[in-house]
Amino acid sequence: MRTEPGPVAAGTDDIVISDQTDLIRVRKALRAQARSAGLGLVDETKLITAGSELARNILKYATGSRGRLRAEQVTADSRRGVRATFTDEGPGIGDVDAALTDGFSTSGGLGLGLPGAQRLVDDLTVTSAPGSGTTVVIEKWRR
Ligand SMILES: Nc1ncnc2c1ncn2[C@@H]1O[C@H](COP(=O)(O)OP(=O)(O)O)[C@@H](O)[C@H]1O
Ligand SMILES: [Mg+2]
Repeated sequence: MRTEPGPVAAGTDDIVISDQTDLIRVRKALRAQARSAGLGLVDETKLITAGSELARNILKYATGSRGRLRAEQVTADSRRGVRATFTDEGPGIGDVDAALTDGFSTSGGLGLGLPGAQRLVDDLTVTSAPGSGTTVVIEKWRR
C-alpha cells in the first residue's frame, strides 16, 4: 500500500553513488532523515539496511553510470516518514517481479537484496526497463 505523498518538509541534496565510499554518505543521509522524521532506532536501522542494499545494487549493476540518492521528509495525515529515491542510468531490470522474488539473481548473488529491502520498509516501488535505468523508491513511516 502506498501512502499519498504529502508536502516535502526537508531533504538531502542528491548524493552521488559511484563507489564504495559513497555507501557511508548514503547511510549517514538516511540516518539523518530517519531522526528528523522521529523514527525509532529499529526503524532507522531497517531504513538504512534497505537503502544500503539498493545502493549496493547500483554499484554492482549500474556500472559506468553514477547513481543518485535523494532522501526527504514526507508527511501524510499528520504522519511523518522518510522517502528515499535511488536512481541510476544502468542497464535496467528486464523482469521486475522476478527481481523482487527471493533468490532471483542475474549475478550469482543471494538474490535477497531487493526482496529483503521490501520487507524492511513500508513501501518499495521499482520502476525499470532494459536500457532505461532503474528507480527504486522506498518509504518508512513513523509508527
Ligand atoms: N540497480 C539495478 N540495475 C539493474 N539491475 C538490478 C538493479 N538492482 C537489482 N537488479 C537486478 O535484480 C536482481 C535482484 O537483485 P537483489 O535482490 O539485490 O539480488 P542480488 O544483488 O544478490 O542479485 C539482480 O540480480 C539484478 O539482475
Ligand atoms: Mg543485491
